[in-house]
Amino acid sequence: MAFALQSSQSVMNIKTALTAPLTYVDVGQGRPVVLLHGFPLTHEMWRPQIPALTVEHRVIAPDVRGFGGSASFDGTPSIERMADDVAELLDNLLIDQPVALCGLSMGGYAALAFARKYPERLGALILADTRAEPDPPEGKAKRGEMIELAQQQGSGAVIEQMLPKLLGESTRQHRPEVADAVRALATAQKPESIMATLAALRDRPDAREWLPAINVPTLVIVGSEDTLTPPEMAQTLVDAIPNARLVTVDGAGHLSNLEQPVQFNQAVLGFLRSLP
Ligand code: MLT
Repeated sequence: MAFALQSSQSVMNIKTALTAPLTYVDVGQGRPVVLLHGFPLTHEMWRPQIPALTVEHRVIAPDVRGFGGSASFDGTPSIERMADDVAELLDNLLIDQPVALCGLSMGGYAALAFARKYPERLGALILADTRAEPDPPEGKAKRGEMIELAQQQGSGAVIEQMLPKLLGESTRQHRPEVADAVRALATAQKPESIMATLAALRDRPDAREWLPAINVPTLVIVGSEDTLTPPEMAQTLVDAIPNARLVTVDGAGHLSNLEQPVQFNQAVLGFLRSLP
């Protein structure tokens, strides 16, 4: 399936709304499904999912602070603040029923923070290509180096360094259009936002102790070629979350939703249909 970056309006007839501080799309009807994107991207990374999911669900896909049209962090950037922003957005949209929350990578960190802080607002959880472990010391040091790279050479240099790890071998070999789309989306983001978010990623807490308390149906998705958050890490999530199941997306790396959207959508829709 071809994936190209075009404006939301032209492809899906979806308008991006702004309810300070976040921009987001809100489309479809039914059970609310919130999609939280990865770093350093925007809600546009959900382009292959939004039309498929809105056939049966109301889809809300915000831009994390500093990305897309969302306002920058005011205060210390943190994953918890991303979760608070989601709760505030749901308040603004008058959504008080529990939502299905799907986060990929950084979005998964925010989803875990949301599950801890707002359990009554959560009806189901989808964790894609993410992990509960904090950064190890060498990972924190690499974040510092990347902050410097963003400061000195801008967003394009950051994504060039990240791309080989974000995309699986199969995608890199056979689907250059996915790399082009990710590159274009990330390069358009502000270096200051990338720097602030890298600090939030570096300083995120260990979420492993929160996992046994998650009491909603949970789907864990992982690309078979994901080297950043590999299948063993996904298995750790499944083992620790009481009501979790695992789907492996063949031929995908870390951005499994973009790399193999048909498999990803099938997994998500099948899971959502199985909910009470
Ligand atoms: C992401 O895809 O959101 C990033 O890989 C998260 C991270 O760097 O920890």
